[in-house]
Amino acid sequence: MRRCIKLVFGSLSFIVALIAIGMGYLKLDGISRQKLFASVMYTMSDPNDTRIMNLRCNELLKHSTVKGHVLEIGAGTGINFPCLHNNTNIESYTGLEPNIHMHSYFYKFIQQWDIPYEIRLSNNSATDMHHIEANSVHTIIMTFVLCSVPDPLPEKVLLEAHRILKPGGTFIFIEHIAANSETNPFTYGFQKAIEPLWFIIGDGCQFKPMTHYFDAAKNVYSKVDYEYIDLPVPLFMIKYGVKGKLVK
Ligand SMILES: C[S@@+](CC[C@H](N)C(=O)[O-])C[C@H]1O[C@@H](n2cnc3c(N)ncnc32)[C@H](O)[C@@H]1O
Ligand SMILES: *[C@@H]1O[C@H](CO)[C@@H](O)[C@H](O)[C@H]1NC(C)=O
Ligand SMILES: *[C@@H]1O[C@H](CO)[C@@H](O)[C@H](O)[C@H]1NC(C)=O
Ligand SMILES: *[C@@H]1O[C@H](CO)[C@@H](O)[C@H](O)[C@H]1NC(C)=O
Repeated sequence: MRRCIKLVFGSLSFIVALIAIGMGYLKLDGISRQKLFASVMYTMSDPNDTRIMNLRCNELLKHSTVKGHVLEIGAGTGINFPCLHNNTNIESYTGLEPNIHMHSYFYKFIQQWDIPYEIRLSNNSATDMHHIEANSVHTIIMTFVLCSVPDPLPEKVLLEAHRILKPGGTFIFIEHIAANSETNPFTYGFQKAIEPLWFIIGDGCQFKPMTHYFDAAKNVYSKVDYEYIDLPVPLFMIKYGVKGKLVK
């Protein structure tokens, strides 16, 4: 059975690699890839998808949890704003979004609300937040970002986040993760087989275990909590998730 899975996915990987090389040949360069990804994200970010919005708004971004000066890592198209626009505990919002092709989608999406706090969006990467003062942020939010941050930079993101958080401040997140290769060899094999294509279409996204970053964060944060969750998405290979909270 295991050998059979290996054979099937070995062949699939080969085909995927050929397609990926083909796409490279078509000179899908960094800029058009970022543009493509921004429009894909915009199409996929559906504020009417009640199951994923319920996860975002009622499980992660509750009004009682998200407060004060808020920083969002990888703000994307602003899809977390249905959860944030009328949160009266927020004093200010800063979004980091290095893909500048997302910015116009972001502004267009959030203009439907009359948001009472100041909003900033910058093109900085979360791996270097030197422009943000230490101990200045109450809440950091991050949804589905770390898969596109190459190793070992996610650890740097968590350290930078720790530096800018106020003592007692919280960092809450949901991430896609790789399936467990022992308990879910089929999904894991499929994820690894399509990864070269996924990487190109998904702006550098890779299937990773993720939790080792959060385990390592125990050395600096006062509290680290996370749990595995099933994401309410239609594609089986992206339904593995982790949801958690780090406290400075
Ligand atoms: C899959 S999208 C998710 C967008 C949105 N947070 C959501 O929940 O739908 C990942 C986003 O993270 C951004 N991103 C990638 N690397 C980043 C980094 N180093 N710092 C900040 N954002 C980053 C990408 O540009 C992209 O907009
Ligand atoms: C969401 O639903 C509302 C009301 O039915 C509709 O006006 C809006 O266009 C929908 N938005 C999207 C992105 O589908
Ligand atoms: C905030 O707005 C959402 C719709 O975007 C609504 O479901 C929710 O009840 C509102 N919450 C408050 C506290 O006004
Ligand atoms: C990123 O933002 C900085 C400061 O606002 C700006 O000078 C720079 O041109 C921006 N980069 C891109 C690629 O737009």
